[in-house]
Amino acid sequence: MARTSADRVRVAVFISGAGTNMAGLLYASRLAGAPYEIALVASNCADASGLELAALEGVETFVHPHQGHSREAQDTAMERAATDAGAEIIVLAGYMRILSPEFVRRWEGRILNIHPSLLPRYKGLDTFARAIDAGDSHAGSSVHLVTPDLDAGPVLAQVRVAIAEHDTPETLAARVKLAEHQLYPRALADFIASRAGAPTA
Ligand code: GAR
Repeated sequence: MARTSADRVRVAVFISGAGTNMAGLLYASRLAGAPYEIALVASNCADASGLELAALEGVETFVHPHQGHSREAQDTAMERAATDAGAEIIVLAGYMRILSPEFVRRWEGRILNIHPSLLPRYKGLDTFARAIDAGDSHAGSSVHLVTPDLDAGPVLAQVRVAIAEHDTPETLAARVKLAEHQLYPRALADFIASRAGAPTA
């Protein structure tokens, strides 16, 4: 049965940069049967190019530059925008700010992140260089629930990407991005389906 916009889960996407994962989620949300819609794209960077694409596609956008604000003040502004947009789930897609534990706790179980490594390997930054330097056969990406500990929440889905001998961090990152664009929409849809099937208290 076709879903109406009334029964799609409203999702806020937080970005800091190009927002190509956000774009993947947005276009996937427009396919028949998608269980979610992008209600808001919010950023801590006014020049995040993903904002332009979201606006072009008619999605509400919000910017709150983090400079000069405490972590808590930044999180509160972003959270208010998400709540005002009616978001039930927050999706981090290249949002390069560490969130305050209070914010994460308020959204625990309803906030997802994508991280460019096969977690639990390579939490944090420079994941591609670290995988290449370690001689790994594969890199990849993980979608996980966000918990107060960085990149440590339960993994929902992963995709593996083979590392070539001639790969640099840049060439590997480009292929992992392609894989992420497949991974995130599927992981989000599966997550929403699993919530819908979960027993209520
Ligand atoms: C993605 O590769 C994502 O995995 C990574 O930032 C990129 C954002 O690209 N996230 C992190 O490193 C978070 N620790 P995008 O703006 O084109 O979606």
